[in-house]
Amino acid sequence: MASRVVIKIGGSLFFDDAGVNTDRVQKFAQFLKKTPEIQAIIVGGGRIARTYIQGARALGASETECDLLGIATSRINGQLLIRAIGDTTYPWVPKSVEEFAKARATGKLVVMGGLQPGQSTTSVAVIIAEFLHADLLVVLTDVDGIYDKDPHKFPDAKRFSSITVDQLQKVLQKGAGAKIAAAGEYQIFDPVSSEIVKRSQLSVHLLSGKELAQISHIIKDPAADIGTKITR
Ligand code: UTP
Repeated sequence: MASRVVIKIGGSLFFDDAGVNTDRVQKFAQFLKKTPEIQAIIVGGGRIARTYIQGARALGASETECDLLGIATSRINGQLLIRAIGDTTYPWVPKSVEEFAKARATGKLVVMGGLQPGQSTTSVAVIIAEFLHADLLVVLTDVDGIYDKDPHKFPDAKRFSSITVDQLQKVLQKGAGAKIAAAGEYQIFDPVSSEIVKRSQLSVHLLSGKELAQISHIIKDPAADIGTKITR
């Protein structure tokens, strides 16, 4: 049983074609309220980040400026979740690890977004999890694990039940090529996340954010064969 858990929610999970998926945001909020093991939540930028980044890039923005737009959108998405959870959360998204520490000292649940250019919100989640000595980081995305090839294109794609950070970097690099470190294009595990996982004792599990019951399952039994376990 994990007792100190950090969760990263991919921003894409908050949106559907009609806009904000308020039903899903509410379900996350209810789930987070009744799961005291979860100590911090990091929310990504999702489609709204990519919309702004693509627009800004077309207008000549640098990658750093694009990253800053991505960070701003992740904080806006975090604010949506704060609204949905209500009074048990710290009311605003901290902008640094120091601000996070102060927010956490209030005893409230803290929701974070991005921190600085050059990384994704998965890196923020890894940094916060390392800071808290979390015994589990759960990364929620819109797929149910890491596959050896794109499961949408290849019906014979196989899910890894466990993968090392180095193997994962290779799988992701194959799919992304030169785009591995462009704003809005960071893969689910970017280079900063990988390096911090390698130096820390952190246990990381990637799961589908569409099956909330799986999160409770992995908290109760971190060895369960669901999603993909990422090891050092
Ligand atoms: P993410 O790419 O982490 O969002 O952040 P996400 O929603 O988790 O992504 P998906 O949808 O699950 O794939 C959005 C963008 O914000 C910038 C990056 O450009 C990133 O692609 N960002 C985020 C930073 O530059 N620094 C951060 O600390 C976080």
